Formats: sequence, C-alpha cells, structure tokens
Amino acid sequence: MNNSFLILIFVVLCSVRAQELPLFGPGPELFPGLIPGPEVLPPEGDKGVTEQVPITGKTVEGEVPVIYDAYFGKPITLKRRNFLDNVLNGTILCTVAVRPCNKKEGRRVDGTCTNPKYPSRGAEKTPLPRLLPAQYGPGNTLRPARDGSELPSARFLRTSLLGDGYFRDHHFSTLATHFQVASAADNVDLLYLLRYTIVSDCCLGNTPNRVNPLCIPISVPEDDPFLQPAGIRCLNLTRIITYQDVGCLPNSLPAERYSIATPLLDLGLVYGNTELRSRLVRANQGGLLAFRMEGDREVPNGNSPLCLGNSANETSCYNYGDDYQANLLPGIYLTTMWFFREHNRLARRLAKINPCWGDEKLFQTARQINIAEWQYIFYYELMPEILGRKNALEKGIIYETDGYVNDFDPHQEPGVIREYIVGTRWFHTYQPGRLDMYSKKQYQSSISAPLLTLRSGYLANNDSEAQLTEGCYIQPADKFDDYVLAPDLVQRVIPRLRASDVSATDFMRGRDAGFPPYNHYRKFCGLKPAKTWEDLHDTIDPDKVEILSRIYDEVEDVELMVAIYVERFIPGAFLGPTLYCIMVHNLLLWRQSDKFFFEHGGFPAALTIPQLNQIRQTSIARVLCDNGDDVKHIQPAAFFRQGPWNTPVPCQEIKGINLDKWRDRSCTRRK
Ligand code: HEM
Ligand SMILES: *[C@@H]1O[C@H](CO)[C@@H](O)[C@H](O)[C@H]1NC(C)=O
Ligand SMILES: *[C@@H]1O[C@H](CO)[C@@H](O)[C@H](O)[C@H]1NC(C)=O
Ligand SMILES: *[C@@H]1O[C@H](CO)[C@@H](O)[C@H](O)[C@H]1NC(C)=O
Ligand SMILES: *[C@@H]1O[C@H](CO)[C@@H](O)[C@H](O)[C@H]1NC(C)=O
Repeated sequence: MNNSFLILIFVVLCSVRAQELPLFGPGPELFPGLIPGPEVLPPEGDKGVTEQVPITGKTVEGEVPVIYDAYFGKPITLKRRNFLDNVLNGTILCTVAVRPCNKKEGRRVDGTCTNPKYPSRGAEKTPLPRLLPAQYGPGNTLRPARDGSELPSARFLRTSLLGDGYFRDHHFSTLATHFQVASAADNVDLLYLLRYTIVSDCCLGNTPNRVNPLCIPISVPEDDPFLQPAGIRCLNLTRIITYQDVGCLPNSLPAERYSIATPLLDLGLVYGNTELRSRLVRANQGGLLAFRMEGDREVPNGNSPLCLGNSANETSCYNYGDDYQANLLPGIYLTTMWFFREHNRLARRLAKINPCWGDEKLFQTARQINIAEWQYIFYYELMPEILGRKNALEKGIIYETDGYVNDFDPHQEPGVIREYIVGTRWFHTYQPGRLDMYSKKQYQSSISAPLLTLRSGYLANNDSEAQLTEGCYIQPADKFDDYVLAPDLVQRVIPRLRASDVSATDFMRGRDAGFPPYNHYRKFCGLKPAKTWEDLHDTIDPDKVEILSRIYDEVEDVELMVAIYVERFIPGAFLGPTLYCIMVHNLLLWRQSDKFFFEHGGFPAALTIPQLNQIRQTSIARVLCDNGDDVKHIQPAAFFRQGPWNTPVPCQEIKGINLDKWRDRSCTRRK
C-alpha cells in the first residue's frame, strides 16, 4: 500500500540530480491524450517565473537557470508553482532547471537543450509521448473490454498463444539481445521494478487484489499447465510509476509514466543523466572516468548499494553514471562495461595525440565519440537487421552517404515514445533464458539469466566476465520467428517471486499504459481496422486468430501488445507491421528531434565530415575487441552467429576508428 519508500528513492535520486531537472510538455501531435485540466493549465499571458535554482549546482557565473515544469515543458508559472508547493518535494520531483542553451556547446549530460526550442525536453522526467491518446477506465484504472467486462487473463493469453522452450535462432547471436536491452535501459528508467519488493499484497490469499490501486495482479486459470501443480492462482504485479504517483499531476489527467532517465541514446548508463552524477563518476584528470583494476580488468569503482542480487562473495556493484539501470541485467552491465572502457580508451589515445588538451576537452571529446559509436552501432548495425535494411533506408532511419545527414527538425520534441518502450518488450522473444559461458572456444557452463538480475558482482569472480563475453557472441539468440519463449523468462523472471511471466507482464504493461485496442493502431499504421476475425488474417496467421477469437469476446477487444506477439513478419524484417510502424516513428523521432545526433552537422560542436566517416568504420566487434575481457578473435558481424560466412578472425583484422582525424594542430604548434 505504502508508496513512501518509492517517493523517498526518487527524492534521493532526484535531489542528487536536482540542479537540472528537465522534461517536456504536451505538443499537439505527439500528445493527443494530454488535455490538461483547468487546475494545471498555465493561465493565458503568464510568461513564467525565472529564478535561481533552489538546489545548488555548478552553474557558470552569471547564468540564471530557468525552472521548467517537467511535465508541461514550459517555464513554470506562478499558478503551477503554488500547486507544487503543496506537493511533497514537488519542486524537486516536478521541475527541471535549464541553464540557457548555448550555441557553442555540445550534448549536455542532462539532456537539456537537446532541442533548443524545447529546452527541457530530453532531460530526465521528460514525459513519454504517445502515438495515440490513452484510454483508461474511470480514475485511470485499467481499460475494460468494450462491453465493460474485465479483459482476459494475460497469463491465459500467454500460455494459449505462446509456448515455452529453448529454440535457437538461425541468425542472431546473444550479443544482439545484450546490446538491445542496454539501449532500452539507456532511455527509460526501470525503478518501478522496486515496487515488486515493497508492495506485497497484490496476491493476498492467492487471489488477485482488486482494491489496492497500485496492484494489477494477473489471475491464473486453475488448469494452468505449469502453475496448476503448485496451486498458484495469482501473479503479483504492480503498476508503473506515474506523474500522478509522485504528485505532479492530478488523477483527473490520464496517467503518464514518470521516468528519470534521459529519453535518448546518449549513454546515460555510463555518464549519468545529470551533471552532478556525471561529475561523481569522472576521474577529473586526463578526461577519464574514475576507474580501478579488479584483477586485470579495468572497472569503475564498485560500492554502489543497488546490487540486491549479489551473493555474499560478490562484492562489486559498479558506480556507473546510472548505477541502478546499469547494474540491472547481465546484457546491460556487460554492454555498459564495454562502453565505459571505450571512453577511457578514447581519452587515453586522444591525450597522446593532443598533449595540450586538458581534462574537460579530453572528456567531452571522448564522450562525443563514444556516444556517436553507440548511436552508429544501434542505427546502422543492429536496427537494419531487425527492421530490414531496405525498409530502414526507405524510411530515412539510415542513409547511404559519406556526408552529414541533416534531418534535425526543431519542431520535434525529444522523447521516447510510450508505445515503443512497451512494444519493444516483444524482443524478450529472442532473449535466451540461459546464458552460456565459454573459455577458449570451449563451453564451460550456463546460468539462468534472471539469476543474474542486479548482480554485476558476478563478473569479478572466476573469470566470469570473460566467459560471459565469449559466450554471448558464440551463443545463438533464441529463435525469433516462432511463438516460443524461454521458460526462465515466462515462469520465474523475478526469482524472488514463486512465479512470474515476463510476456504476460508485457501484455499487462500495455493495459497499464492505457493503450487503445489493436484496431486503432491498425488504422494509425495504415491497415484496415478489422470488423470480423477473418479481417485479421492479413497480419496474423489463422490459427492464432482462431485462438484470439476464443479468448476475446470481440475483435475490437484484441490488444496491441498481444497482437505484436502474434503478427506475421513483414518482408525482410524480424517483426510484424504494427511494431515496425511504432519503431519507425520512434527511430525517426530520436534522430530528428536531437540536434546532436551524430550524423548532424552545421553547429560548432558537430563532428567534422572526416571524423564522422571514421565513426562509420566501427562495429560492435571492434568495441568488443578493444574493451571486452580477453577478446582476441571474434566474428566480424558479431550480432550474428558464427558460421561459414561469419567466421571468427583475429581482432587485428577488424577495422576501427582512426583518431588521427581528431589531431589538434595547435598542440604541435605550441611545442
Ligand atoms: C536477461 C534477460 C532479460 C530479463 C531477465 C528481462 C526482464 C525484464 C523484466 C523483469 C522487465 C519488467 C517487467 C515489468 O514490467 O514488470 C523487463 C522489461 C523490459 N524489457 Fe526485458 N528482460 C531481459 C531482456 C530484454 C531484452 C533482450 C530486451 C530487448 C529489447 C528487453 C526489453 C525490455 C523492455 C523494453 C522492457 C520495458 C522497459 C520499461 O517499460 O521500462 N529485455 N524485462
Ligand atoms: C522532502 O520532504 C520532506 C518532508 O517535508 C523533507 O523532510 C525533506 O527534506 C524533503 N527533501 C528534500 C531533498 O528537500
Ligand atoms: C561465491 O559464492 C557462490 C554461491 O554463494 C559460489 O557458488 C561460488 O563458488 C563462490 N565464488 C567464489 C569465487 O568464492
Ligand atoms: C570456477 O569455475 C570452475 C570451472 O567452471 C569451477 O570448477 C570452480 O568451482 C569455480 N570456482 C569458483 C570459486 O566459483
Ligand atoms: C506474491 O507476493 C506475496 C508477498 O510477497 C508472496 O507471498 C507470494 O508468494 C507471491 N506470489 C507468487 C505467485 O509469487
């Protein structure tokens, strides 16, 4: 029942972050669901209040930050301030302080000024824009079926439509899943998972608790194939955290997700999401991030308190910029480790090339290159394989060019689309349930992936990091094009619960987010809304439609998240048409709303074209060769399985970035 523990966590995290709390507001297109009620609307003509930030942060002499309303994305009004004065820690939780945007600077750690027209958007606490307006029941409860009854059990839907077992993918390696989950954790926070540990009455007496508004437990049919012997009839599940929960918005507005990660591909995992946090992880010399040696592995300091999964002899919990997210899942903490080391590798090399550069210049340049690599690998190496290269080119997600791609559009507000972050949970389908460990091409052992949650201390003992790293590029991902999920993920994804099903949860999060029915998204994405069950055959195989028709009362009740899991793939891609449509919107938004996207030119801090073309030389294989623990050989297309066309080669044969393009002549002149 008690929410205060969570609020406390936010206040602690946010006040550590307080000197720049940014967010965004309801634009006409992306926020059709947000029609502010009169009590929170800024009055006409109210120009907003400009003032010194209340919590001290390092600001440039004479700079006066403007306090933005996190949710609405406008300078805070007097009326709104009075409202927040009555909210516990309201100023910390619901506002963002924005230093004036400066034409000369590059990307800020805190995400402010990512689009100078909407300076607070792109910061933590930026609300998640929606493609379609939310539909909730009264008081933001879960939307019922069209006839007013409760929607069917998400567990029953899952067990009816999707089986569980281990099947290997023909194309992808497990490394692809690692990189992808890290990309998700880079732009949205998963703090709501802590609610699993603090709300404990969602399944009191083995029955779904429909009274506690924080609970959305999943009812389990008596004859559930797996849970029947244990007699489990209810799966614990709590709701996501909203602006309403922290007090920024009244419940009369649609519930909107509250997140304290910058909603962009900006390596917030490594650098943090605020200036203060970023300063805490820097070494303050040589442009480096603070590091130490753990055996022969370069790692960050290791005393973060958040690794609840570490066993007694696992003592490290790495102090990354975002030390909750970055220690959360094995795919995330491995990937974050590689990009942490990449930063220091770049900084050391740049210092050699440009001996006259100081800490700040080295740090910002290494960070810019690192983020550019991160964006490049995501957009150019992973996404085209999932969406189809031809599709990605046609939609303007990627370009074949050796120049800039100047598609920055100042009218677009930075953010991560709500349907994207929930919809891409579908990639749980190719996440292996067990992670293989290899040493010198020999299989050693494997471990159930959920047992490594919040447990980055595991990496330090017994050569585990090296073995998990070698394992992830040798091990195939789980099979993409089937309807089967790993039992580790759909029976006990949260090990401290007796039972938990990640895909049933994926379905529930669609309800939690208030997504309208699948039919609305069909229309939005250019398909005909279905009137009969047969109308669904254009996107879903008849055998799956048949099952849907038994479980749902009518076609109009079919949900977006369920449909995403059963849609047939579009040509050349590994996903169905609706998720494709959602991902295209988000990937375009990320590049077009972000002034500092790596391919953009035309501002002082932009990469030069020769530098940009160096970024285009790198690959995930190169990043692992340079930063993976004990990587000497790897297949060049490392997101793919090894095979006759993709055999491991020595790292020397994998091309990379030539930093000579960053040589600063003024250093040599001065000598
Ligand atoms: C070790 C492997 C993984 C485990 C144990 C895992 C587990 C989880 C869990 C427990 C949740 C939250 C469930 C809830 O909402 O209550 C979640 C959310 C999510 N997962 Fe995974 N996952 C894994 C891999 C992946 C992969 C490979 C992807 C690929 C994109 C992914 C994408 C997501 C996304 C997008 C969310 C939703 C984030 C949000 O709404 O904040 N996960 N995962
Ligand atoms: C948050 O509110 C509580 C209760 O009023 C107060 O004790 C605490 O100091 C506030 N925290 C911050 C960081 O202002
Ligand atoms: C650490 O503890 C785990 C379980 O508690 C055990 O399996 C493992 O062998 C231990 N490792 C080391 C390096 O002591
Ligand atoms: C380390 O791994 C080896 C081989 O898998 C195993 O035999 C040994 O018990 C492990 N040691 C510890 C301390 O975990
Ligand atoms: C749900 O949570 C309660 C309280 O933490 C726990 O006793 C129960 O076993 C959980 N149910 C399942 C199915 O995990």
